[in-house]
Amino acid sequence: MGGACTFQGSQPVNRYLQCHELVLYKYLNHAKNSLVVVIIDFRIRLPRLYSNLSAFTSLDYVTTTAPSQPYGQQHLNEPLLDHRAGQRFLTEAFKVILEEVLCKGIDVNEKVCEWHEPEELATLLDLELRENGEQQHQLLQRVRDVAKYSVKTNHPRFFNQLFAGVDYHALTGRFLTEALNTSQYTYEVAPVFVLMEDEVLSKLRSLVGWAQGDGIFCPGGTVSNMYAMNLARYRAFPEVKLKGQRALPRLAVFTSQESHYSVMKAAAFQGIGTENVFKVKVDDRGCMITDDLSEKIELAKSQGAVPFLVHATSGTTVRGAFDPLEPIADICDRQGLWMHVDSSVLAQHMTLNPECNYVNVFVIRADSVTWNPHKMMLTGLQCSAILLKDTTDLLKRCHSADATYLFQQDKFYDMSLDTGDKSIQCGRKVDCLKLWLMWKAVGSQGLEERVDRAFAHTRYLVEKMKKREGFQLIGKPEFVNVCFWFIPASLRGKENSPDYQDRLSKVAPVIKERMIKQGTMMVGYQPQGGRVNFFRMIVISPQLSYKDMTFFLDEIERLGNNL
Ligand SMILES: *Cc1c(COP(=O)(O)O)cnc(C)c1O
Ligand SMILES: *[C@@H]1O[C@H](CO)[C@@H](O)[C@H](O)[C@H]1NC(C)=O
Repeated sequence: MGGACTFQGSQPVNRYLQCHELVLYKYLNHAKNSLVVVIIDFRIRLPRLYSNLSAFTSLDYVTTTAPSQPYGQQHLNEPLLDHRAGQRFLTEAFKVILEEVLCKGIDVNEKVCEWHEPEELATLLDLELRENGEQQHQLLQRVRDVAKYSVKTNHPRFFNQLFAGVDYHALTGRFLTEALNTSQYTYEVAPVFVLMEDEVLSKLRSLVGWAQGDGIFCPGGTVSNMYAMNLARYRAFPEVKLKGQRALPRLAVFTSQESHYSVMKAAAFQGIGTENVFKVKVDDRGCMITDDLSEKIELAKSQGAVPFLVHATSGTTVRGAFDPLEPIADICDRQGLWMHVDSSVLAQHMTLNPECNYVNVFVIRADSVTWNPHKMMLTGLQCSAILLKDTTDLLKRCHSADATYLFQQDKFYDMSLDTGDKSIQCGRKVDCLKLWLMWKAVGSQGLEERVDRAFAHTRYLVEKMKKREGFQLIGKPEFVNVCFWFIPASLRGKENSPDYQDRLSKVAPVIKERMIKQGTMMVGYQPQGGRVNFFRMIVISPQLSYKDMTFFLDEIERLGNNL
């Protein structure tokens, strides 16, 4: 109602809460020097509104001037949201986020996680959604609770995933992205981000070694890998877009035994079939054996399948191993296969440090590369790019559907800026801003320094680990993944006893349970191939120091020694 309705003896009228059809007004009655609260329920028709108002006269006398417009119209003229109240809430919530997530969240004296059994947690959170909205102070408490019971992935002792830590410029980019709330598909609605995405992708491509090409940000490395598979199939069999898989022969994909499981998902999702993913053997470091690749290609052909894609990995998920790209590229050239390099995990392309990027030179020969800045580069979830060497508009030809309501061909600007039809999505979140802002803040040099630092910390950790009894490394770490068994005192020297492997397999899960319940740190474990459960420590965050490495080793010992 705002200015259309005045309350006698009051100035100014301040509407401070509105939910659907209830409007709460608060005003100071100067004549009586008292605060008056009026609730107007618009679900009641106008005549009853007056009588209803008189029900409040116990608070103060209230009369209204006749409304200038009939009720219905007047109501719809008002925005349903109260922006001022919303902004006040956001300001308060922001303080909570700063305190709980960003200050406490990175404090080593605070817990990484606060474990509760699911039923208990559900009760603590009071999850049920109800008919009526809540007061601001209750909602702020909810914000606090969400922060309190969530895992602090920013914490220096969070080593559980391939992401960790916080970059404040990237975070600002993420907040700004959310606030602007646009979709990346056309220049019309995302002029800044269309140009920015192009710049960021071209920068990433240049680090891979390509002066030209194409690419797109995807909702994660899994989806980037799916794009690669779809593009590879489309290049080999363009008719697939129109006629589908039934017009195609049986297809075959090749990837190492230790590649990411998204290859299997992609094969299932795209109708290729998981049984047509040929798993190539790895050597003891976890790198693809190219002789076996050649054999598997011949095997597939002998079964009547048509090879079209080799999915190589630069930095495997568990062991951080690098497939030998040069011989793989030779095989792909000879056989006419699409070569994809999944370098999701690592930001090894960022560094010129010869110790780190020795494995990286031949990525230039690939057709496509997956790069996840949301892992080692700290941009925050999600930020993943599929980069292509292609300059023939393959991405668009493969995925376009020419929606006339978005991609009108008679627009007044250069329509090649409407990049949305390259995507398999319609609305697409802006993922370039966080990376762009962070890059602006620290420069390529700053990003390189972080990668080198993570690498140096890993080396330090490995050296310390070798000197401690009870830590048994699995191979020499190639990059920032450190895989190891912790052997408690009770198992040391018992390697030959028949139940050794069985007992060793139970160590990591117990240590993990203890660390989570005590909230001291988080690190992942897994079995792999013939190896029983072992830990995978990932050193990524630039906020880490040698102290944290020492803490890590001490803590594993503390949690596991009495097993
Ligand atoms: C993490 C990872 C992926 C998947 O990335 P998401 O962004 O989690 O989907 C793919 N490949 C490798 C090698 C990975 O480590
Ligand atoms: C964001 O856009 C969606 C529509 O895509 C809209 O429903 C929503 O209200 C917007 N949110 C914000 C916070 O602007």
